[in-house]
Amino acid sequence: MEPYRIIGAKDTSTRTIVTLSAQRILDQCEALARLSELDGGLTRVFLSREQQAANALVLGWMREAGMGARLDAIGNVVGRYEGDRPGLPCLMMGSHLDTVRDAGKYDGMLGVVTAIECVRALHARGKRLPFALEVVGFADEEGTRFNATLLGSRAVAGTFKGEVLDNVDKDGIPMREALRAFGLDPGRIGAAARRREDVLAYAELHIEQGPVLEAEGLPVGVVTAINGATRFAVEVGGMAGHAGTVPMRLRQDALAAAAECVLAIERRCAAEPELVGTVGKLECLPGAVNVVPGKVRFTIDIRAPRDPMRLAAVDDVLGEMRAIAARRGVQLNVTKTHEGGVAACAPWLMDQIGAAVAAEGIAVRELPSGAGHDGMAIIDLADIGMLFVRCEKGISHNPAEAITLADVETAARVWLRFIEQFDPSRKP
Ligand code: HGY
Ligand code: MN
Ligand code: MN
Repeated sequence: MEPYRIIGAKDTSTRTIVTLSAQRILDQCEALARLSELDGGLTRVFLSREQQAANALVLGWMREAGMGARLDAIGNVVGRYEGDRPGLPCLMMGSHLDTVRDAGKYDGMLGVVTAIECVRALHARGKRLPFALEVVGFADEEGTRFNATLLGSRAVAGTFKGEVLDNVDKDGIPMREALRAFGLDPGRIGAAARRREDVLAYAELHIEQGPVLEAEGLPVGVVTAINGATRFAVEVGGMAGHAGTVPMRLRQDALAAAAECVLAIERRCAAEPELVGTVGKLECLPGAVNVVPGKVRFTIDIRAPRDPMRLAAVDDVLGEMRAIAARRGVQLNVTKTHEGGVAACAPWLMDQIGAAVAAEGIAVRELPSGAGHDGMAIIDLADIGMLFVRCEKGISHNPAEAITLADVETAARVWLRFIEQFDPSRKP
């Protein structure tokens, strides 16, 4: 007897088929959350020991669910459930297994384990579909360790840029060295790339990470597009000096200049309701109470649902920062670390996800994603679709991230229905 509460999905003949366990999904998110570099919190970064352990756990769950499972050339976990004939093109599903620092348990992981649970349900019924299913646990979507995002999905899409291999982490370790230490060959990342003809579509289930579904009393929603984003790494070079002797009017204070930049970013990005701008990381050097800061490094993340809106804000922010630097006599070094345009979900997939939502008796709410997802990279390989799941107060990138068993049950039922009724012939 399975130790989990089993919930049924009502099929057209109104027979209840034993299918999914939402409790197992939550338990697996808990198990993954324990694989962290942080005591009492969750941080799991690309090519870490914690990722190695998480990959092993997910490979095991994939195999239990009836899939063949492997690590690809960049450390993504890839599970495959054959269709009614071997070697068919696949519906690719999944999400990421890496996290931000001090993260929530569901951002990424929920999409991976829910997709595995759906395959497990099909396998339990001996059901095979007219296409294969693949579930991917992407190795690095957040970009936490090497300041470069979507690495796993870019490798799958064949758009991985080799220059990031020289990016270093906070300990000065280059990505190429970390890959070797993980047992991977930086020269073989290209082997992770998939052929367009092998992937019918990509579909990702993910927590909303925003307040809309909760505000409207809905458990799930259909994503219309993933907002575009531009990220920078900025270095302000001033002049370190004695806090007690350098007169204010003679200072080239890197932190005061950076602070003015931060407020200029906030002001510009608050000027339009759907635009957002964030300075998430700031490092002040040398970082002593009695030293005028000589160098400051900080990050910028600007996003919008329309690319012209984002690009105009980026131009304005860069212009303002240059003027601040000139006025204060400090050096400004700005490096673009990420740029991705709006990634539109394919209407033919939105329709099928929406139909699965409606079949569960839920109003179909379409909404954009302010958060980035692996679909921004996979869109170069296949059309993308996303299902959002309500999360408490929209909180995410925060240990307080929370979802309910009931919503997981609903989302899993919708997802299994979408999978079983997926019709690739609807692609225009
Ligand atoms: O930054 C994002 O939106 C995503 O969580 N990587
Ligand atoms: Mn995230
Ligand atoms: Mn995510």
